[in-house]
Amino acid sequence: MNTVEIINKKKYGEVLTYEELQHVITGYVEGSIPDYQVSSLLMAIYFNGLTNQETSDLTEIMVNSGDQIDMSFLNTIVVDKHSTGGVGDKVSLIVAPIIASLGIPFAKMSGRGLGHTGGTVDKLESIEGFHTELPLDKFKEQVKEQGIALVGQSGNLVPADKKLYALRDVTGTVDSIPLIASSIMSKKIASGADSIVLDIKVGNGAFMKTVEEAEKLATAMVEIGKKLDRETVAVLTRMDQPLGDEIGNANEVIEAIKLLRDNDYSKDIYDVSVEIASQMVLLAKKASTIEEAKSLVSDVITNGKAYSKLVEFVEAQDGNIESVNEIKANQSIDVLSDEEGYYASVNTQSIGEAAMLLGAGRETKEDQIDHQVGITFHVKLGDAIKKGDKIATIHSNKQNNDEVIQKIKKAMTYTTEAVESKNSVIKIIK
Ligand code: URA
Repeated sequence: MNTVEIINKKKYGEVLTYEELQHVITGYVEGSIPDYQVSSLLMAIYFNGLTNQETSDLTEIMVNSGDQIDMSFLNTIVVDKHSTGGVGDKVSLIVAPIIASLGIPFAKMSGRGLGHTGGTVDKLESIEGFHTELPLDKFKEQVKEQGIALVGQSGNLVPADKKLYALRDVTGTVDSIPLIASSIMSKKIASGADSIVLDIKVGNGAFMKTVEEAEKLATAMVEIGKKLDRETVAVLTRMDQPLGDEIGNANEVIEAIKLLRDNDYSKDIYDVSVEIASQMVLLAKKASTIEEAKSLVSDVITNGKAYSKLVEFVEAQDGNIESVNEIKANQSIDVLSDEEGYYASVNTQSIGEAAMLLGAGRETKEDQIDHQVGITFHVKLGDAIKKGDKIATIHSNKQNNDEVIQKIKKAMTYTTEAVESKNSVIKIIK
């Protein structure tokens, strides 16, 4: 097969066959097709797109490029979740024990944070002793015994995505819907998911800035699921302010504990977590309506079963859950409002970057993160704020925090008109 002919075909907007896509992807992974030819094809895909069939073919080829985890020994539907990432997104920490406490296995491979968004593995590592690297046999054993395990991505899962993503990153081809959709879905499928719930974040703190863009991505992923026989539901959720009150690693674990142990939470994080968990319960066929699923989910939060499962999970991975309460940054500084009015908007990405400046996130993959630091938000969009009100508290190990304080203040805007608060769950696409 001739690689240049394949590039030309896509350049002229024609549809590629399975064999043509396979030729390029396997050749690239094996090293027989160079970066410059794949870059050119990626740019042609960026401009001309892929059909649903091409996107699912690409996904399947990517899945087959490496190892696949076989979870069939569980003899049940394996449901996974994925979030496209945002600021203060601790939904996995909350949903994992909820799902497991309902007898649905939760077996997840999660990522680390990069840029303004955090990662579940980093958050869990703020718990003293907690291991996120488990050999595959131990991971499977724990899912069988405890019904829950969460580890970092390891092994040779979807090597095609590792190479393609790195290349997309330096060739301006990350923000292509079919490339994002196939990248995410290939990793979920290779890690053994039968059914998938996608939390697609929408807003100025997310990858997808508008509902229209998010709908396109959601539809592309749901279509891949249909073609590859993995039931997939996409939940579009708001990321136009940090989710919940806490940003930072230990902070976010504490917020998840408070929700599950004390029923103490802010409405947005509760609503998103309950929606995602309930959609997973439906896909696992443990309930026949969304109302029934939501009632099962809220019961295990209020009766403490989900919290007990969280403790069991942390212990199974050698963590000491009490340790997070002792994690304190050197200083906590209140940020007071210089303005007054209704809190109308916030540049959420900027808030994520402020947390990164404190050391809660990493700019490059090699950066070390500081689990102790972060930001607590005391206000939500729509709140009436007076001059001098406490809008946030920063937890810092740095001497000078002026830049962070200014960044937080500058990110927020106020109006004199009352601001309507919006539901955190925007829509469901299936
Ligand atoms: N996340 C992924 O895993 N892949 C993409 O392409 C974009 C975001």
